[in-house]
Amino acid sequence: MENASPLHEVLYVSTLSPDSPVKVVSQIAAKARLANEASGTTGLLVFDGMRFCQQIEGPRKAVLALTERILLDPRHVNVEILHHGPLRERRFRRFSPGYVVTDDVDVLGRMQEAGPEQAMAQFLALLPSIDLDS
Ligand SMILES: Cc1cc2nc3c(=O)[nH]c(=O)nc-3n(C[C@H](O)[C@H](O)[C@H](O)COP(=O)(O)O)c2cc1C
Repeated sequence: MENASPLHEVLYVSTLSPDSPVKVVSQIAAKARLANEASGTTGLLVFDGMRFCQQIEGPRKAVLALTERILLDPRHVNVEILHHGPLRERRFRRFSPGYVVTDDVDVLGRMQEAGPEQAMAQFLALLPSIDLDS
């Protein structure tokens, strides 16, 4: 499954565009599932009703190409990369979309304010409160 390109990961938060209905989220997730499998990209895309937070991992070239497309996607705004860099081994076995289910309404908003060191740790700490779609 791995090719010669070293593993890389990206973590960002963004906000659903005011012009986008919430139903685009399931459309994005359905397409991403197929495309990510084809490119060997795994990770987690979470949505809380307003914000997205996504970790993308896989061969560096595939991750960077996908990140560029995502940055240009008009369905979300205020895309902010919280962390990016090389990765020794994958954190996830596949790509999953999920929904953040927590009483803490602005957990993704606060991640945006976290420093790059803390952002990944905060994201991983979210895992128990994510309702995974698959
Ligand atoms: C929040 C968000 C997350 C996305 N995640 C992925 C993803 O994991 N994989 C993917 O292929 N496309 C994802 N997309 C869609 C891409 O932005 C883009 O539409 C898709 O890669 C197709 O690009 P193309 O139309 O230039 O071929 C995401 C879009 C948004 C808004």
